[in-house]
Amino acid sequence: MTDWDERYRAGDTPWEKGQAAPPLLELFDRIDLETWGGGPVLVPGCGLGHDVRAFAEAGLAAVGLDLSEIAIERARAFPVVGDESFETGNFLSSEWSVGRRFSAIWEHTCFCAIDPLDRKAYAESVASLLDEGGLLAGIFFLTPFDPGEKLPGPPFATSIEELGNLFSPWFERIDGWVPQRAYPGREGREWIGLFRKLSSGSVAEET
Ligand SMILES: C[S@@+](CC[C@H](N)C(=O)[O-])C[C@H]1O[C@@H](n2cnc3c(N)ncnc32)[C@H](O)[C@@H]1O
Repeated sequence: MTDWDERYRAGDTPWEKGQAAPPLLELFDRIDLETWGGGPVLVPGCGLGHDVRAFAEAGLAAVGLDLSEIAIERARAFPVVGDESFETGNFLSSEWSVGRRFSAIWEHTCFCAIDPLDRKAYAESVASLLDEGGLLAGIFFLTPFDPGEKLPGPPFATSIEELGNLFSPWFERIDGWVPQRAYPGREGREWIGLFRKLSSGSVAEET
């Protein structure tokens, strides 16, 4: 199991790029601000919070959550740009999620960081935290490594099919595409997925 605090302490953070994810900025150009449902937007596994501040700068309240106290301490040290806040906690645990609701969740390199065995718990957390009609938007790492490269994760790969199956009990997929904008080295390896939470009536019909 990854010791995330230790990774930050040691400076072993190749994911840390010092800026918001380029696919998120692409998404801001592509969908209206209203599509995020007015906020607050939750960013699980936010690291130093660049994406959280991008939401706040765009005018949406945003909450960054991370397991690592060091990451959250560093995220809080940045100048405040809008209505952003940061919390330490486990996205997979109901201890953190109970009683909280968000209009949208932005996924970026949290899903690929958790053990694949925890993916069902991840999907359940997303479903429990979103209002009906809420938006799950994410940039998902499909192929972190080259073919034949056998590196132990994280990051752990996924597929569009797996994501569809995982979220289908609660969500309908409304869009998906390979982003044009990416950090160097991630070009063509990622997929943006947009999922809308179904009303409880629709969920009951599905299950
Ligand atoms: C690969 S890093 C990505 C950080 C940030 N999204 C970025 O791109 O800079 C994964 C992050 O997820 C956090 N994390 C892992 N499991 C988590 C969990 N169950 N709940 C909350 N955060 C988690 C780690 O502490 C780490 O900061």
